[in-house]
Amino acid sequence: MRIVVLVSGTGSNLQSVIDAVKAGELDVEIAAVGADREGTYGVERSSEAGLETFVVNFNSFPTRDEWDAALTARVASYAPDVVVSSGFMRIVSADFIAAFHGKYLNTHPALLPAFPGAHGVRDAMAYGVKVTGCTVHWADAGVDTGPIIAQEAVTIEPGDTEESLHERIKVVERRLLVNTLAALAAV
Ligand code: GAR
Repeated sequence: MRIVVLVSGTGSNLQSVIDAVKAGELDVEIAAVGADREGTYGVERSSEAGLETFVVNFNSFPTRDEWDAALTARVASYAPDVVVSSGFMRIVSADFIAAFHGKYLNTHPALLPAFPGAHGVRDAMAYGVKVTGCTVHWADAGVDTGPIIAQEAVTIEPGDTEESLHERIKVVERRLLVNTLAALAAV
């Protein structure tokens, strides 16, 4: 199973995929890691791991449609079986979703459909829920919408900050992502 992983930030969840592949625990080929902006640690750590990387910089294109078309073409050039949005913080178009129909996987640090968007952890804390968690799902053209594959709950503890809670969620999220990819690779 060939995967392309898209990141916008540190890529710590991506690192767990890289580690699992290197350890022989996950039978996937990471064809490439791509970002929507320059200077992400996710791309840097991928290069250091010897992976193919690319940037389709959102700010280098006059329109969202042109950026989206360039991203779609670049990802398609790797002929991936699965495209993973791993902390990729851009909405993609219906054309991108159509190009990778049933292949675009997203992880989110909340129990969807609750608290979608860029601040799932902060929004859950602000609402005052006592339990949140993470979701792995097939992404459609919405914001963190599409069929859910796996979810796991994480309890919000007194004294949690957004950072401390997000770190605990990511520990669970990394396992769910690796296990989901392993299950898909085994089909
Ligand atoms: C992850 O928690 C992921 O679920 C979240 O960004 C984080 C990326 O962490 N994505 C979203 O919020 C998407 N709506 P990482 O860069 O350390 O892997």
